[in-house]
Amino acid sequence: MFFSFAAAVVFAGALVPLSPAVPLRVRADQVGTGDAKFDYVVIGGGTAGLTIAARLAEFASVAVIEAGGYYETDYGNASVVPLLSLTGIDVIDPSEAFPHRPEIDWELLTEPQTNAGNRRVHYAQGKTLGGSSALNTMSYVRSSASAYQRWADLAGDSSYTFDNLLPYFKKSVRLTPPNLQKRNAVNATPEYDPNSFGSGSPLDVSWNNWVDPTISWLAKSLQAIGLVVNPKGWSSGDLNGGSWVPSTIDPAHATRESSQTSFLDYATGNTQLVVYPHSQATKILFDGTTATGVSVNTDGTVYTLSANKEVILSAGVFHSPQMLMVSGIGPKSTLEANNIPVIADLPGVGQNLRDPISVNVAHFVSTPNAQGIVANPATQPEALRQYQEEAAGPYSSAAGYISYERLTDELRSTLSDSTRAALAALPSDSPEVQFIAGTFLWTNGSAMGSMSATICNTFSRGSVTISSASISDAPVIDLGWFSDPADGDVLVAGLKRSRQAWASEPAQSISLGAEVIPGDSVATDEQLLEFVKANANMIWHPSSTCSMGKEGDKDAVVDSGARVFGVQGLRVVDISIFPFSLPGHPQASVYMIAEKIADAIKKGAQ
Ligand SMILES: Cc1cc2nc3c(=O)[nH]c(=O)nc-3n(C[C@H](O)[C@H](O)[C@H](O)COP(=O)(O)OP(=O)(O)OC[C@H]3O[C@@H](n4cnc5c(N)ncnc54)[C@H](O)[C@@H]3O)c2cc1C
Ligand SMILES: *[C@@H]1O[C@H](CO)[C@@H](O)[C@H](O)[C@H]1NC(C)=O
Ligand SMILES: *[C@@H]1O[C@H](CO)[C@@H](O)[C@H](O)[C@H]1NC(C)=O
Repeated sequence: MFFSFAAAVVFAGALVPLSPAVPLRVRADQVGTGDAKFDYVVIGGGTAGLTIAARLAEFASVAVIEAGGYYETDYGNASVVPLLSLTGIDVIDPSEAFPHRPEIDWELLTEPQTNAGNRRVHYAQGKTLGGSSALNTMSYVRSSASAYQRWADLAGDSSYTFDNLLPYFKKSVRLTPPNLQKRNAVNATPEYDPNSFGSGSPLDVSWNNWVDPTISWLAKSLQAIGLVVNPKGWSSGDLNGGSWVPSTIDPAHATRESSQTSFLDYATGNTQLVVYPHSQATKILFDGTTATGVSVNTDGTVYTLSANKEVILSAGVFHSPQMLMVSGIGPKSTLEANNIPVIADLPGVGQNLRDPISVNVAHFVSTPNAQGIVANPATQPEALRQYQEEAAGPYSSAAGYISYERLTDELRSTLSDSTRAALAALPSDSPEVQFIAGTFLWTNGSAMGSMSATICNTFSRGSVTISSASISDAPVIDLGWFSDPADGDVLVAGLKRSRQAWASEPAQSISLGAEVIPGDSVATDEQLLEFVKANANMIWHPSSTCSMGKEGDKDAVVDSGARVFGVQGLRVVDISIFPFSLPGHPQASVYMIAEKIADAIKKGAQ
């Protein structure tokens, strides 16, 4: 999650190395070079890739190929200190004028979004060990039981129901209860169900060691308009109501927990996993229709990693479909147009891109926020001391409070018949809009509060395709924003609901002056829709470009074991295989799916 209003966000993070310097943790003998053979070769050392690589390395020989290096070295404390995930990670700027940081970002720019003001959007994606878990906002939010039931139905496999997935969710995390003393906020005690978490994983999940005062008021405003606190949090299959957001933060040090600081570190200490950093996989190699290995390029040296058993593709939502296509798997017409020999004609590759979008309603506020405290020379030194000595204070916090809701009858009645019908086809407890309470500084340094509305179910579809047979050319991305009018319709209703939250007594008690974004002049439904189309942004949760499904289904690329249809010895394991955009936030399910498929491979392999 991230609430995005690029023009108004003041990037206050210093892009300088963390002090003291973070040592590179991979042992020299675990850094690969040149031709070699492994049981499993994993393409992409990102969120899913490092998780599945670490688990497979518990019983087999495994290599992982990653285009980037260590983000702590390449991006400094911007990628380590929780608050800087909001203010210091400058590459999340979605505008065409985004800062170029090829050492940690893929620098992807989409095609013009024809239904959204023809904007070309910079879509940040981590190019580093840890992948996008090194850039994300660390919210750990599972989806609803009904969404996993829908996944199970689409995949034709009951192992995808929430109850059957829960052991893998638990296995992938280590929960630390909230530190109420450090949080020191009576109204912000997180509710959660300890039974839905585990303790054996290297991946820390906990709550911020600090509560933002502005967000406390905005949380109250959501509660005041009827979005009650979910007494179990959202990790037990019920994704409705509000909660203080659990995060992938190491609570003892208040540092980002990524797949690199968790699963890679664990594998480094406990297995023979071999890492190929700063290396780009260029192509999956086949013998007939059986994947046999991967061609790799490290600084211009090209070599082959052979896979005795399987190749696992974990290159993420944009690069996994691209890798399939340049290797000969995808829509036949696309492959032929690029002179790529067809290994498997799979029309669904790259076709089902789902990207949930979001808009903000923002006011100036009288209450302090984390960004303001650390930007103020009078309060910054104490904040830094708190962070460095106590792992607490504003620097230690990222995501705050979120609420999920099914639209009220009043707002549902404003939707078109077709939008109502589209929503009615979803499970009856599916949340429809997500409200994220946020804070930022206006360009002149004044504190703002924001209440963003995000669609929970993306009806629009985009696509990923290729412009050449070379992996070095960026994938061609059309996000498909507003290609289905239901998304705009729901977002307008969501924006109205955000305004209701701002109109409540708790929000009014901190609001200074009139609404700034969108502003009072944006009033009629037509004006609201126009505003939404011109200003909606991603929250970096795109999915489903190599969808899981039943063999022969139009969009299906992998079966319920994540095996690519039409070939042998190749699986895709990352967010691209989610069959649709899950309500909630994806990383919890990305870690889960990596655990689940690793376990399936282990059971099949032993
Ligand atoms: C700014 C931002 C904020 C977000 N906030 C949240 C949040 O708060 N909560 C949440 O749940 N989710 C959030 N997300 C989304 C979440 O982080 C992603 O959904 C998740 O990390 C995706 O995991 P993945 O394994 O599919 O891909 P990634 O983690 O992106 O991994 C793909 C890896 O493959 C590598 N790679 C690609 N091609 C090649 C190649 N040819 N050769 C070698 N390596 C290659 C990449 O460098 C990368 O390391 C956010 C994402 C972003 C970008
Ligand atoms: C970020 O790093 C710089 C340089 O080491 C340091 O001066 C600064 O205090 C760091 N910020 C935080 C919040 O640790
Ligand atoms: C910033 O701009 C807003 C709107 O113009 C104004 O209300 C506020 O006082 C300004 N803040 C500062 C510190 O100048």
